[in-house]
Amino acid sequence: MKKSKITAIVGSLRKDSYNRQLALAIKEIIGDRAEFELLDYTDVPFMNQDIEFPAPESVKRVRETIKASDGIWFFTPEYNHSVPGVLKNLIDWLSRPISESEPAILSEKPAAISGITPGMSGTAMAQDYLVMLLSFMNMRIMNRPRLTIPHAMKQLKEGDTVDFGPNMEHLKKQADAFLKFIEK
Ligand code: FNR
Repeated sequence: MKKSKITAIVGSLRKDSYNRQLALAIKEIIGDRAEFELLDYTDVPFMNQDIEFPAPESVKRVRETIKASDGIWFFTPEYNHSVPGVLKNLIDWLSRPISESEPAILSEKPAAISGITPGMSGTAMAQDYLVMLLSFMNMRIMNRPRLTIPHAMKQLKEGDTVDFGPNMEHLKKQADAFLKFIEK
């Protein structure tokens, strides 16, 4: 049987991003049960309708990756109780039609949402905002379980490395659930 392909979108460009670390921990948990790759979208420009058609090469590349994915897993930081601008900008690009004949590429794609923050919210408010946005994209969102990890600073090992050990059970539960969810 062909392996499912999951694309991880991390809403942080920070080198030591806790959300990137979380995505990499999930990649390890998923192992060979699915293809799981982090999307590199650092070269996607700000949405500007003056450059929308023809789409920039970077936008074409991320669209192709999304189209070929069976599921999209969002790992979002919380910025001012919402999602970071870079993530909103990427979603704005992905929301636009490629041509009159091609359907919206996010429509009906399965989506999972996770996030980690040094704050108390565990990114819950950013996630609620993301649910609203992805619903408008007509994505098929896995609302349970969602993963919210608060107090990242209390879970650091050496340097800026997060120890996901205490949350491992929740990480595994969400990974198992999403693998089932994308098969439906
Ligand atoms: C933050 N941060 C933050 N944290 C939080 O829990 N709630 C919030 O509303 C905000 N707001 C916010 C705004 C801006 C502009 C920045 C730069 C940061 C802190 C943020 O969660 C923290 O820096 C995380 O470490 C960011 O995620 P990554 O980069 O570690 O994945």
